[in-house]
Amino acid sequence: MKKMLSPDRIDLTACSQALIGTRFAGKLQHFASVSSTNTLLLEAAVNSSPEGTVYIADEQTAGRGRGGHSWHSAPGEGLYVSALVHPALLLRDALWLSLATGVAAWQAIHETTGVSIDIRWPNDLLIGAKKLGGILVETAVEPGDDPQLRYAVIGIGINVHHAAFPPDLAMLATSIALESELPVYRGPILTSLLRALDHELTLLETSAPDLLTRFSALSSWVRGKRVHVPEQCGYTGRTAGLDERGFLLVDCDDGIRRTVLSGGVREAEEE
Ligand code: BTN
Repeated sequence: MKKMLSPDRIDLTACSQALIGTRFAGKLQHFASVSSTNTLLLEAAVNSSPEGTVYIADEQTAGRGRGGHSWHSAPGEGLYVSALVHPALLLRDALWLSLATGVAAWQAIHETTGVSIDIRWPNDLLIGAKKLGGILVETAVEPGDDPQLRYAVIGIGINVHHAAFPPDLAMLATSIALESELPVYRGPILTSLLRALDHELTLLETSAPDLLTRFSALSSWVRGKRVHVPEQCGYTGRTAGLDERGFLLVDCDDGIRRTVLSGGVREAEEE
């Protein structure tokens, strides 16, 4: 029987304390309800908010997902968080931010709940075939031939307490509460996530190849998975690792090795 303190309030003081020594220390802001933490933080970034600023909301009324989708953000049920970072990266390497955030989310969820998730390239957090969370990275660049990132807003949504989902998501989504027997709290997941993200971002600036190895070890989708990819008129094949920039390679049924550029990869029937 699960027993937990109700409601699950995020203790900002305890979170801030646990983040001392990271780029996020003293920079957490909590909101009861916002349109979207990513939208708000992008506006704040334009107005020169410092690197490390983090927005957390109990509810989003217009939460955004990748590809123009909305993100179901029921009040008090999930972790809805966005972090502003200034990584020393080129725009062409921006995918590494998504992969690094996926690794950080894997570690945080495992450390605080014992649940081992899967990561569907590039950044869907899954349990089995169902989605537990997602990552939306939005960037601004310095002008130039090979543009450098000026900043990035990394948005992370994790389904924590949801006991049920709206009908259109019911077959597709899950939550930690639905998957674990143990009580779960958002605050520890948040601090663990931000600590892991801080670490990953620091590593990223020095050793990106390690990131690709670690991501590949945590994702069943990187190698040997039969997938359908809905880009370039659509193709089907078996995943064959990541290239040096983190893009997914697929050995297609027509014998050509293709590079997946935009995500939306789905599992395909075995031949
Ligand atoms: C996806 O899988 O499509 C990405 C979902 C990202 C959702 C998070 S919740 C916090 C942040 N604010 C948003 O509006 N979106 C991201």
